[in-house]
Amino acid sequence: MGDPRLISVLIDEASISRRIDELSHAIARDYVGITGLVVVGVMKGACIFTADLVRGLSRAGMSGIRVEFIRVSTYGNEVKGPEDRGRVTSIGNLTCDVAGRRVLLVDDIVDQGFTMHAMKRHFLEALGASEVRTCAFLQKRLTNPTAEVQALRSSFQVDYYGFEVDDLWVVGYGLDVAEEFRELPYVAACDPTKKASSDESQVTPLC
Ligand code: IMP
Ligand code: MG
Repeated sequence: MGDPRLISVLIDEASISRRIDELSHAIARDYVGITGLVVVGVMKGACIFTADLVRGLSRAGMSGIRVEFIRVSTYGNEVKGPEDRGRVTSIGNLTCDVAGRRVLLVDDIVDQGFTMHAMKRHFLEALGASEVRTCAFLQKRLTNPTAEVQALRSSFQVDYYGFEVDDLWVVGYGLDVAEEFRELPYVAACDPTKKASSDESQVTPLC
């Protein structure tokens, strides 16, 4: 894979595309007879997944979908550390009014679960959505969750997810480590402590 930080491919392109097709059909079946769904993708990690998912939903027969994106950040630019427990989630503005509307929130990964949980509450309580379902491309199988995370993960489950992954840092298909590797068409396990193979990672980000 070139870069020494990329350890192995966990999910290849063909598996992603098959799973998106299955997931889209399952979601479309659940929303039969419902129109005016607002699909909200979380930037930047879920942009690629959202783009593929909404086209999957269309192929599965859904129509009248509105697609929106929202900026949400929980870990900032860094990899999660042990001190990240209960870290504050900051949620940006939406460009449409979702009051009284059904919303499907789409994120790249549920790790400890704080982000999706905070977003669901925000859409129901602050924005007045009539119903909020959640869909994550990945869900982490946590090996050593704190009691707080365990309680959160058992009280709140996403409605839909693509794949489960082990408790590693994963990149690709929209997921990053400090803004790198989002463009990979597959999902790979990453060791961010290894040295980058080129000087490109030293380039100052534009934004
Ligand atoms: P949670 O609040 O702990 O569920 O964290 C979810 C957010 O952290 C996701 O929206 C991702 O942006 C980021 N994240 C968590 N784990 C990973 C990972 O393994 N790779 C890339 N981003 C991750
Ligand atoms: Mg994210």
